[in-house]
Amino acid sequence: MPYYIKLGKVPPKRHITYYKDDGTSLYREELFSTKGFSGIYSNKYHIHMPTQVEKIGEFLLDNLDDWPDAPLQYYHFATDEKKTSGDIFSSRNAFLKNDNCVISTANVSEDSDIFFRNSYAHELIFIHRGNGKYLSEYGTLPFEQWDYIVVPKGTTYQMKFDDYSDVKLLIVESSTPFDIPRHFRNEYGQLTEDAPYYERDFKTPQFTDPIDQSGSFELILKVRDRYFKYSLPHHPFDVVGWDGFLYPYTFNLKEYAPKVGKIHLPPPVHLMFTTRDFVVCNFVPRLFDFHPEAIPAPYYHSNVDSDEVLYYVYGDFMSRKGVKEGSITLHPMGIPHGPQPGKTEASIGVKETDEYAIMIDTFQPLKVTKNVKETMVENYSQSWLDE
Ligand SMILES: [Fe+2]
Repeated sequence: MPYYIKLGKVPPKRHITYYKDDGTSLYREELFSTKGFSGIYSNKYHIHMPTQVEKIGEFLLDNLDDWPDAPLQYYHFATDEKKTSGDIFSSRNAFLKNDNCVISTANVSEDSDIFFRNSYAHELIFIHRGNGKYLSEYGTLPFEQWDYIVVPKGTTYQMKFDDYSDVKLLIVESSTPFDIPRHFRNEYGQLTEDAPYYERDFKTPQFTDPIDQSGSFELILKVRDRYFKYSLPHHPFDVVGWDGFLYPYTFNLKEYAPKVGKIHLPPPVHLMFTTRDFVVCNFVPRLFDFHPEAIPAPYYHSNVDSDEVLYYVYGDFMSRKGVKEGSITLHPMGIPHGPQPGKTEASIGVKETDEYAIMIDTFQPLKVTKNVKETMVENYSQSWLDE
């Protein structure tokens, strides 16, 4: 996040003695940093050494979901057609992936005491349906429907839902951080007046008392497609205080303030997050273009350096027929894409739209998985023929 936070008790300076109440034993300082020691970071103060582990084991998850001979074509698939069950990691169904990005959905159906850490990837968790609390060493983050939770790589967490009967998550993993675009920030990092959101729109962790508990605590580490199980001798949420710029936070899709133009503006105007290898954009309700002869629907376009993924959240999407909540369309690089028959004409003269969708444009081609094969709408590639 682009601003500094301090929660709980921290010593007056970094890297000096910080004694517990007994006056003799030290709290354990952990620097949690990015880009070596050059990027954003936080300092956490633990009751116990964060390095303590009793047992390390690897386990296999049945996630061999490759579809190696998938054709280059347009895809429309309904993620709700393949509902999952399980906890926050075992319920994940990967649909699209490349070396830098994995896009999954998950229907979390059960509470679990395990702790989870994605060791190699940052996570963007979109709460399509569900409410609850995200717990981590940084404190408690309440979340609700349509919140994004931005999780820095290496964060240990749990997610507790109020009700497990209808949870739906869209999870995007990235090998590089989800950044606030540089041009939304001034030279000090503050969000500018013309950014589509403001610091107040971001919710940050609330301080939670440290848990000083001994026992056996299970931590699952995801290391790309491998999973490790660590047994920890103490509760990992034993932080008495922390400060810095690196921590999980939330942002609700409804808070995004879209920009509109006289004639059609391209997708970068809908930008939410950038990573090194892809961008995330928000399509939200907005007024349409106000030139008297404007065509609000997009023109056909060949974006030769991007695969375009759209996840449909709510409403009647202005350029697509047949999509519903939970649908994903993939329009890969190498072939043009654009509105379906009738959608261009139907958009002329329309004043506003009531759609919510999330777009992920990757700069490297995505591989589709068997989950796509099992949930795809047949003949979507031919759906432009009935002009
Ligand atoms: Fe596009």
